Amino acid sequence: MITNEENKELAHRQHVKYFMRFLNILPSSLSTHDTTRVTIAYFSISGLDVLGATSNLSLDLRSRIIEWIYRLQVQPKDEDMSMCGFLGSSSINIEMDPANSHYRCGHLAMTYTGLCILLVLGDDFSRVNRKAIIEGIRALQTPDGNFAATLSGCEADMRFVYCAACVSYMLQDWTGFDVERATDYIVNSIGYDYGIAQCPELESHGGTTFCALATLSLTDQLHKLSEAQIEGLKRWLILRQSDGFQGRPNKPVDTCYSFWVGASLKILDMLEMTNYASNRKYIFETQDTVVGGFSKWPETCTDPMHTYLGLCGLSLIGENGLIEIEPRLNITKRAFEHLKKIQATW
Ligand code: FPP
Ligand code: ZN
Repeated sequence: MITNEENKELAHRQHVKYFMRFLNILPSSLSTHDTTRVTIAYFSISGLDVLGATSNLSLDLRSRIIEWIYRLQVQPKDEDMSMCGFLGSSSINIEMDPANSHYRCGHLAMTYTGLCILLVLGDDFSRVNRKAIIEGIRALQTPDGNFAATLSGCEADMRFVYCAACVSYMLQDWTGFDVERATDYIVNSIGYDYGIAQCPELESHGGTTFCALATLSLTDQLHKLSEAQIEGLKRWLILRQSDGFQGRPNKPVDTCYSFWVGASLKILDMLEMTNYASNRKYIFETQDTVVGGFSKWPETCTDPMHTYLGLCGLSLIGENGLIEIEPRLNITKRAFEHLKKIQATW
């Protein structure tokens, strides 16, 4: 049992060990995430970055991870680039029956998190097939401005609008992303309560509101929101706090919303209107000080996503020992500076 007294400090060393463990082994409890290993690697590697601890990654390990990410890059086939992007795991990067070859296609969340990993590890993107990835993005935008995650048939919603925006921003190429249509899609997904949903007519949610707002900021389209929409959105976001933050009205608070809602408020320059002390206290109640990691609720099981987003939520409110983050891309400012240096060479 962890007492409140013990849980006032960031268990920095334990969190470093926690993330390092996920780079070596996928615990059986997370085996269903085998096909999306890149996202777990992103939470762990970018998490080490937020902790200022990437020096724990040896040169050999860095280079093995970089090679693994590049092996997951789907290259054009007979000049067709529509399936290009990154796969989520080597377990699906196998010689397949030609009848199943259409499953070998990039997934927007894996392309986004794969590029983030390369950035944190100091890669220069020299082997990223930028043109092909942008063509892959173009193939995924729907007529109403939304994005599907992959070409092989799957859900399409605000999460993938965001991933497509991040990739286009990182590759400095918007030719595969129709900004006007995506902006319409986002504006159409604003609810009666001014929060933003996955799709038009659905319930407003903190996670999707972040995806929408970050996209509007990355595409320089925030001015498309009316004053009433901006004011309503600020109000909706501020009202998500009790001690920590919830994702929608009448739902329990959860550590990850200290990032999703916190970063949304940061983008709107309103985070300072929240109560940092009670936000921090809640996040720390979900910290495992013995093994490392954060969970969504106190006394429940930790996982890499809540650990990463808990740390990012703490970084947003200036926790000691954590590197500042670039809220829109959900990477550290250090990784963001590296991105700017790469882009300057193009
Ligand atoms: C839980 O829904 C869902 C989440 C905690 C994830 C929310 C985050 C997003 C939609 C953004 C994802 C972004 C990317 C780039 C993939 P729930 O209904 O179980 O939880 P609730 O009760 O808190 O609403
Ligand atoms: Zn959560």
